[in-house]
Amino acid sequence: MSASSNDTDCGHRVDRREFVRRATLLAGGVLASLTGAATAHATARAVITEITPKALEDASAVRRYRVPTANGAFIDAGNELLIVRWNRQLFAFALACPHRGATLEWRTTPGEVYCPKHKARFDAGGAHRSGRASRDLDRYSLRLEGAELVVDLANRLRADRDASAWAAAVITL
Ligand code: FES
Repeated sequence: MSASSNDTDCGHRVDRREFVRRATLLAGGVLASLTGAATAHATARAVITEITPKALEDASAVRRYRVPTANGAFIDAGNELLIVRWNRQLFAFALACPHRGATLEWRTTPGEVYCPKHKARFDAGGAHRSGRASRDLDRYSLRLEGAELVVDLANRLRADRDASAWAAAVITL
């Protein structure tokens, strides 16, 4: 991934510092939410960290994580990645909304991804349910290697361009 301060997502410029700042704020207090009682629209995301050192990973687009053991959403803000484990399935999504690039949120109840900018809702697998966005969340291809979850950031998949590859980008545990 580029080390530049700005990234382009679907034609929209996203300031990396602002993106990371917002993602970090959203992650605050998250672990307590994951273990506590869920409210109707509670947002809950925990930070997930890469296993291998950043310096080694910068040479490739592959990122490695410990497999989440609980239902929920986990962010790697530095790589703008949202990992969801839900009902024994794992997904890796781009953290930016496919509509205008807003930072996505996770709602523990009912278990969905939410865009606060235009109130788009996506199910835990990234399928668009309602709101302004016009397509499903972008997925990254992923695989298991032993106890590690391996995400390939070079292989970003859009449901409207490659539906079969997008549908296959899921791990069932
Ligand atoms: S930016 Fe997410 S629905 Fe518009």
